[in-house]
Amino acid sequence: MALSLYICCCTFLAGAIPREISNLHNLEFLSFEMNKLTGSIPVEIFNLSMMRIFGFGMNQLSGNLPSTMCHMLPNLEQLYLEINNFTGSIPNSIPNSSRLNLIELSHNFFTGFIPHSLGELRFLEVLNLCSNNLVSDSSSPELGFITLMTNSERLTMLEMCENPFNATLPNSAWNHSSPLQYLYVYSSGIKGSIPDGIGNLSSLVTLSMKNNHLTGSFPDRMQDLQKLQGVDLLRNKLSEITLNSFCVFRYLVGIHLDENQISGSIPECLGNVTSLRDLSLGFNRLNSTIPATLWQLKDLVELNLSSNLLSGSLPPEVSSLKIATAIDLSMNRFSGDIPTTIGKMQNLNYLSLSHNRLHGSIPESIGTMLSLQSLDISHNLLSGSIPRSMETLEYLTYLNVSFNNLTGEIPSGGPFRNFTSDAFISNAALCGAQRFHVPPCPSIPSHRSKTKKVHRTMFILLGVIIAMGAISFGFVYLRCRRKDKLSSGEDLSLVARPERLSYFKLLQATNGYSESNLLGTGSFGSVYKGTLDDGRVVAIKVFNLELEGAFKSFDAECEVLRNLRHRNLTKVIGSCSNPDFKALVLEFMPNGSLEKWLCSHNDCLDIMQRLDILIDVATALQYLHCEYSTPVAHCDLKPGNVLLDETMVAHVSDFGIAKLLGQDNITFTKTLATLGYLAPEYGLEGLVSTKCDVYSFGIMMMEVFTRTNPNDERFGEKISLKSWVNDCVPNGITHILDANLLRANDGEYFIEKLDCISSMMKVALNCTMESPRERSNSQDVLVALKKIKLQLLPYKGP
Ligand SMILES: *[C@@H]1O[C@H](CO)[C@@H](O)[C@H](O)[C@H]1NC(C)=O
Ligand SMILES: *[C@@H]1O[C@H](CO)[C@@H](O)[C@H](O)[C@H]1NC(C)=O
Ligand SMILES: *[C@@H]1O[C@H](CO)[C@@H](O)[C@H](O)[C@H]1NC(C)=O
Ligand SMILES: *[C@@H]1O[C@H](CO)[C@@H](O)[C@H](O)[C@H]1NC(C)=O
Ligand SMILES: *[C@@H]1O[C@H](CO)[C@@H](O)[C@H](O)[C@H]1NC(C)=O
Ligand SMILES: *[C@@H]1O[C@H](CO)[C@@H](O)[C@H](O)[C@H]1NC(C)=O
Ligand SMILES: *[C@@H]1O[C@H](CO)[C@@H](O)[C@H](O)[C@H]1NC(C)=O
Ligand SMILES: *[C@@H]1O[C@H](CO)[C@@H](O)[C@H](O)[C@H]1NC(C)=O
Ligand SMILES: *[C@@H]1O[C@H](CO)[C@@H](O)[C@H](O)[C@H]1NC(C)=O
Ligand SMILES: *[C@@H]1O[C@H](CO)[C@@H](O)[C@H](O)[C@H]1NC(C)=O
Ligand SMILES: *[C@@H]1O[C@H](CO)[C@@H](O)[C@H](O)[C@H]1NC(C)=O
Ligand SMILES: *[C@@H]1O[C@H](CO)[C@@H](O)[C@H](O)[C@H]1NC(C)=O
Repeated sequence: MALSLYICCCTFLAGAIPREISNLHNLEFLSFEMNKLTGSIPVEIFNLSMMRIFGFGMNQLSGNLPSTMCHMLPNLEQLYLEINNFTGSIPNSIPNSSRLNLIELSHNFFTGFIPHSLGELRFLEVLNLCSNNLVSDSSSPELGFITLMTNSERLTMLEMCENPFNATLPNSAWNHSSPLQYLYVYSSGIKGSIPDGIGNLSSLVTLSMKNNHLTGSFPDRMQDLQKLQGVDLLRNKLSEITLNSFCVFRYLVGIHLDENQISGSIPECLGNVTSLRDLSLGFNRLNSTIPATLWQLKDLVELNLSSNLLSGSLPPEVSSLKIATAIDLSMNRFSGDIPTTIGKMQNLNYLSLSHNRLHGSIPESIGTMLSLQSLDISHNLLSGSIPRSMETLEYLTYLNVSFNNLTGEIPSGGPFRNFTSDAFISNAALCGAQRFHVPPCPSIPSHRSKTKKVHRTMFILLGVIIAMGAISFGFVYLRCRRKDKLSSGEDLSLVARPERLSYFKLLQATNGYSESNLLGTGSFGSVYKGTLDDGRVVAIKVFNLELEGAFKSFDAECEVLRNLRHRNLTKVIGSCSNPDFKALVLEFMPNGSLEKWLCSHNDCLDIMQRLDILIDVATALQYLHCEYSTPVAHCDLKPGNVLLDETMVAHVSDFGIAKLLGQDNITFTKTLATLGYLAPEYGLEGLVSTKCDVYSFGIMMMEVFTRTNPNDERFGEKISLKSWVNDCVPNGITHILDANLLRANDGEYFIEKLDCISSMMKVALNCTMESPRERSNSQDVLVALKKIKLQLLPYKGP
């Protein structure tokens, strides 16, 4: 009889591994992962010859592994010993377990050489040796092990990072048939050049060799790497790379070549790599202009060209990088004006243009960059005044305009209240408040004060419009840069694999997954509140792997969230993924879900709050459906999946069954979403398109204003939430409306408010047309809601 012993995650064992386990002769599956076990592994355990999966990862085990460890384990398939304190060499006997497909030995203190006999393991798919003290065989200066492993028929992931190899990469015999997808050899003291042979790894998805001493170029013979998504060569000494080499890759998402010695130009053909999201070329010696084609990379999220010798002016087309969140062009030789179109970049959090030769004035439109958090334009030749429109940039926490030729009054409202004199050092003639260490502004002659008044009014108007926008666009968090070093492949955050947080971190963060931290349970597991050791409060979504589909759900959610970033989507901070445990670490939303607010009898959202939340959700949908190059259907939109942050900005969450849609924007699914919110074609035929989300959104709108769940018992065959609303709009609207809404400010502007709600219910009905073709799209819905908001604004109440 087969036996499994699965002691993991929740039980939290400490002390030594009991020897008695070795009496369970039929044991096939032994998992003590993620406990606090200490001491060494009792040798008797290696006599359990039925064993298939052996998991002691993430404990505090120490000691050497017996060299004969695998002599009696002919059936072993997976060996997890990662994140422990094991010492000594890697046992030579491992290949005696000839069925091994996974070996995880990372984050230990193993020393010596890598046994080449590991190459005999015909079924091996994953080998992780990162973060040990392994060295290369001193008799051969080459890291021959890598090419040896390319002969392995199944190996897809080879991680050898963070070891002091002090070696070169071999120059021959890279097997063209290798299925290797992930090659991590970063921070490993690799010298010499990148061999041509890497171009033979035709299945390669991610190549990470940052933090080494690589010299020379990126080989030209790379056109076979058609699946390549990420190249990380940060911090090497590459001097002969021509960026043209990268134009041949069709699926390249991230290029990190910062801190090398690359000279020459940014080639036009880079604009052909339309899959690019993250381009980092900082600290090199590039000396061209930026080719116009670069601005055609409309999915670019981060662009870093800092510290080069780039010149030319910034064209208006900069703003076509619509979804970019960070642009760093500092320390170059750019000249000309800052284009006024920059105001259109409403997703940009971070912009640095410092240390260039830009002149002209700061465009007024900068006040419409609603997401801006950090702006550095210091050390340029800018003149004119600081636009007062910037007072509306409510998330701006860093500003530097020092060392320019600016004049006029420093605005004092909005974010300027928090800026200090450091932001304004050495300009021509700035004036204003004393705390900026500038002279007071001269009082203004009366005729000018009139025009100024007109300007003021215009600014105030503009301000109101922008503030309205800002309310609906909501709060943006700084992109969290994870400091935890316990992962491999980190930093290529957009590429290939989500970042990993250790199980321990999460365990501590949630106080051992204590009941008091449980935020809720859903179809795929539980969500806990946690506090990371750096103080950040997060939500930790733990997938219940016993449920069918949980793996898929985790993968789907990782896939979508690592590709998409938007202020109205929940953001992934990290993840923890092991065979026994999968968790996503997300932004924590202190105000819970919209569902909670709708169900609560104490808390009540007013009309404007409800509308704002719906606008947030519609903004997210519009982004998912239209702005990203591959449309994404969320597929499970409902109030429970709309989370509210501390400022009540809504974030759409739970992408467990989301679908990336193909060319024809339609796909089929067998995964069922939540009844009640399901579009008819989805429920009946499994037909998924962005129109399904629009339908669910329509139902949600009805629920938000009627406070009646579509699955309420009053509904059934004959009458549904939709038909009920349909029958009562516009004349019977008061019958269906949430009573709280009208009670709030009693009679004031009663009619006007009802009008607005009627308009909204009409939008909702257009969202829920039976035929997907007749349904509105998310773009139109968003526009309609924003119009209603304008209409409602004057009646908003105190
Ligand atoms: C393992 O099994 C072998 C033969 O079955 C036996 O000789 C040996 O003593 C056992 N080792 C331990 C540590 O129990
Ligand atoms: C394991 O190693 C870490 C880091 O060197 C050390 O802090 C810890 O005390 C060790 N644990 C044990 C049980 O030896
Ligand atoms: C382990 O493998 C080696 C090399 O294949 C072989 O010589 C040896 O007999 C094996 N040992 C056992 C105990 O199976
Ligand atoms: C190359 O790899 C394939 C499988 O990936 C293997 O069958 C073949 O023997 C290898 N070639 C050499 C020369 O080792
Ligand atoms: C690295 O290897 C070279 C010889 O290849 C040797 O001279 C040097 O001392 C080694 N460096 C370290 C840090 O081991
Ligand atoms: C790449 O693969 C081809 C075809 O298998 C082989 O002839 C060539 O030697 C390999 N090149 C390198 C540099 O390994
Ligand atoms: C970009 O791709 C187009 C179409 O495939 C091709 O005609 C053009 O030459 C490419 N541009 C560059 C600069 O490689
Ligand atoms: C741009 O790259 C440089 C060099 O790697 C780095 O110092 C800087 O922080 C990067 N900027 C951003 C916004 O990440
Ligand atoms: C850029 O640098 C290269 C050499 O690194 C030089 O040949 C070329 O003239 C420079 N181009 C410009 C525009 O300065
Ligand atoms: C600074 O601006 C003033 C006019 O405001 C102009 O006369 C002067 O030339 C400018 N200085 C520089 C260095 O551009
Ligand atoms: C100024 O900073 C304080 C504390 O850092 C913050 O609470 C406040 O919201 C900021 N005010 C503005 C206008 O940004
Ligand atoms: C702005 O830049 C200048 C010059 O680089 C620096 O001295 C100053 O401290 C910076 N101001 C702030 C607020 O960081």
